[in-house]
Amino acid sequence: MKVGVIGTGYVGLVTGACLARVGHQVFCMDNDTAKVERLKQGIMPIYEPGLEELVQQDVDSGLLSFTDSLATVVQHAEVLFITVGTPSRPDGSPDLSAVRAVARSVGQHLDSRYRVIVNKSTVPVGSGNWVRMLVEDGARSPVAAAAGDGGVAVLQAPPELHFDIVSNPEFLREGSAVWDTFNPDRIVIGAESERAEQVMRELYSYWVAPEEPDRTPVPLVVTDLASAEMIKYAANAFLATKISFINEIANICERVGADVSRVAQAIGLDKRIGNQFLNAGAGWGGSCFPKDVSALVSTGQEYGYECSLLRATLAVNDTQRKRIIEKLQRELRILKGRTIAIWGLAFKPHTDDIRSAPALEVATQLLNLGCRVVAHDPIVTAAQAQVQVPDLQVTPSALAALEQADALVVMTEWPEYAQFDLAEVSRLLRGRVVVDGRNCLKREAVQGAGLVYVGIGR
Ligand code: UDX
Repeated sequence: MKVGVIGTGYVGLVTGACLARVGHQVFCMDNDTAKVERLKQGIMPIYEPGLEELVQQDVDSGLLSFTDSLATVVQHAEVLFITVGTPSRPDGSPDLSAVRAVARSVGQHLDSRYRVIVNKSTVPVGSGNWVRMLVEDGARSPVAAAAGDGGVAVLQAPPELHFDIVSNPEFLREGSAVWDTFNPDRIVIGAESERAEQVMRELYSYWVAPEEPDRTPVPLVVTDLASAEMIKYAANAFLATKISFINEIANICERVGADVSRVAQAIGLDKRIGNQFLNAGAGWGGSCFPKDVSALVSTGQEYGYECSLLRATLAVNDTQRKRIIEKLQRELRILKGRTIAIWGLAFKPHTDDIRSAPALEVATQLLNLGCRVVAHDPIVTAAQAQVQVPDLQVTPSALAALEQADALVVMTEWPEYAQFDLAEVSRLLRGRVVVDGRNCLKREAVQGAGLVYVGIGR
């Protein structure tokens, strides 16, 4: 099939590359011309394991191409994915200006051939109908065609449109986005018509109707637009709540002398609970959970419903960062004038994404308290981090960050941090305190090196 992907961010690029890999002809479009040029040269805008190789192979096979021309994409593709960003506004509601602009422009370029317009951007419940309206508006707004006789632009009559809107939320995690796209737990399709549903079944046939007998079909959930949109929010809100829940349990564990790791392991053996997303720590960050939980609260409010549980989910997450500061204050007393080393800036390992990263929030609080903060991350650069926190010092060596530091705080569980020689860590660190904000170090080993171990909920 011929597929257009509008917006080559995380979701768009990964989706486009994976669809090309299974045999579709994919046109990835972005209005950032410089980005498109870099993609054509094989330079990825994000760090994502396996993506660069996949894109290169797809480009070499002729199934993936990049363009900054929306007209080209709408002209050639029978399925058009909208995969642009929907960041949070200060009040928590999502900023839909990019979706609005794309939907209108798609409408301006549509002709009378049938198209399926797929919303993959995370948009509030009810946005499917709104996108339809914008596409129709776009088609009605005059398109200045090539200048006619005498240089006067010719206004074309709007074509009779044949299109359906589909909601097809993504559930991919940064750091394993390619793997997740090839191995999803389910594919969700909210469709307005049977025709659109059939197009989507064909598009995803590699997953939902595999030809190889050894591949199990991925469950396909076909539903209405609003339910599909809600599934995405409900899934992320549930996962975020699960983490906030275990963090709350961790905070009680600390006070009663229990170990949250053992508690999480044991409750996770209950199949109804499950063992994933029960790691207590400094809380969740990233581009999805904070934005989506806030957006759901905002949707509730819009419809006169107060989301008290989700507000608590957000509040627990917010205070979880402050607990790191409290732990340092308890151990070091006065923080003003101290040097604190931070290991890990990304919101989680195997990504260079620092959006809503707990590490940067902790660094900001420490700087505000008069500390000097020296950080290390295996892939986040000083330039990247300093855009958000200008006074943060970033070193390319994890061990160098320890020199002159009164305490070490581990904020991202990069595997290499658990592998350092703790005797060396102990020798370099001026102070004795190690706050393990991700419970990823071995407590006994840290203590064995003569350091004070402070974990989360243990
Ligand atoms: C998430 C969802 O998992 C994905 O399905 C959705 O499409 C996008 O949002 P992502 O943001 O990439 O993916 O990261 P994820 O691995 O889910 O982690 C989110 C945050 O939760 C990270 O900050 C992580 O450190 C934290 N986390 C995760 C915990 O604190 N404890 C856990 O047990 C799991």
